[in-house]
Amino acid sequence: MERTLGIIKPNSVNNNHVGKILAIGEEAGLKIVEMKMKKLTKEEAGGFYAEHKERPFYQSLVNFMTSGPVVLLVWEGNGAVEKWRQVMGATDPAKAAPGTIRKLFADSIEANSVHGSDSAASANRETEFFFH
Ligand code: RTP
Ligand code: MG
Repeated sequence: MERTLGIIKPNSVNNNHVGKILAIGEEAGLKIVEMKMKKLTKEEAGGFYAEHKERPFYQSLVNFMTSGPVVLLVWEGNGAVEKWRQVMGATDPAKAAPGTIRKLFADSIEANSVHGSDSAASANRETEFFFH
């Protein structure tokens, strides 16, 4: 069984969309195997998104990700990485497919409600980063 790391970002916690987002993942056939709520430090958010350090949106992204608590979770299921990315939808909510989490709940390209690992290798690294 594959695992992937999901994050429900601060905008969706603040907007009371946690339950609906978890339900979408569960209805897609994914199982929650780890979960915790946490306000990330600048060091955690900055380290987590280190791959984007040189991008113009990096500092703003770190500020957003530390603006309130997030829900960190590990999903398990067949093809979990791809399945969670599918239900999240495109990074830019304007381009996200109907019915996807980002289409339904994102406030902007930055405050886009959820994170999902983009490969099995990222999933292992990100799960270690937050859970072990
Ligand atoms: P994520 O890593 O959060 O799952 O999102 P993603 O793979 O779909 O997108 P990625 O390119 O990795 O970007 C990470 C997060 O940075 C914010 N972002 N802001 N202002 C902008 O143009 C911009 N572009 C990206 C989003 O919060 C995005 O999810
Ligand atoms: Mg990404």
